Amino acid sequence: MSSMRIPEFWLACVIKPSVFLASLLPLAWLAWGWSTDGLGANPIEATTRFLGDWALRFLLIALAVTPVRMLTAWNCLARFRRMLGLFAFAYAVLHLLSYIGLDQFFAWATIWAEIVKRTYITIGMLAVLCLIPLALTSTKGMVRRLGGKRWQKLHRLAYVAGVAGVIHFYMMVKADVREPLIYGAILTALFSIRLWNGRTRQVARPSVARKAKRA
Ligand code: HEM
Repeated sequence: MSSMRIPEFWLACVIKPSVFLASLLPLAWLAWGWSTDGLGANPIEATTRFLGDWALRFLLIALAVTPVRMLTAWNCLARFRRMLGLFAFAYAVLHLLSYIGLDQFFAWATIWAEIVKRTYITIGMLAVLCLIPLALTSTKGMVRRLGGKRWQKLHRLAYVAGVAGVIHFYMMVKADVREPLIYGAILTALFSIRLWNGRTRQVARPSVARKAKRA
């Protein structure tokens, strides 16, 4: 498939800022919900859940960048991966803060007890712990310092975070498990594409470290 070429100006000055603003829309929706009393009978629960949903969605969207690139040769998509990954991290942190601050009122003893006692919370914690090193090493300087190979190995943690996020969601819902199963199926499909591509045709792509050096 031929590679899609978008002029640099459009990418940097129009599409990237638009994706950035679009990624803020869930927060705008949440702020609107709070200001209009539109979040239902339990706005705190709705907020925590909404932020958790978007953390997982952004993680899957960020993870989809490379498989979609592999299938379509639209290499310009790589320009969005870091931003989307950081949005996944930001929504996960807000989800956690909503749980700690709004849901538990900073009752650290209870929070700790829940992390230890409730498996789905422990697994949510694992997902956050996986995302932290990814966010910390997302800068060009860190990519250069780590070297492309080590950086790529470390970034496999994104899939661990994805699996943990899906299990966390699956264990949390009591009756209707359709939504977490759909996220699980998407994650499996993305991972399969990467494996299949790795085994068959190895898309030729400049190493991450080389790209960071050039930038
Ligand atoms: C220490 C870390 C985490 C804690 C303590 C935590 C806690 C929670 C809690 C308490 C709920 C249930 C909310 C309620 O019913 O009131 C929840 C739901 C959820 N969390 Fe987390 N979470 C964590 C990390 C994550 C991460 C990293 C992700 C995504 C990658 C995530 C995704 C979700 C999703 C998708 C839901 C279900 C939302 C829904 O029902 O639609 N969580 N989490």
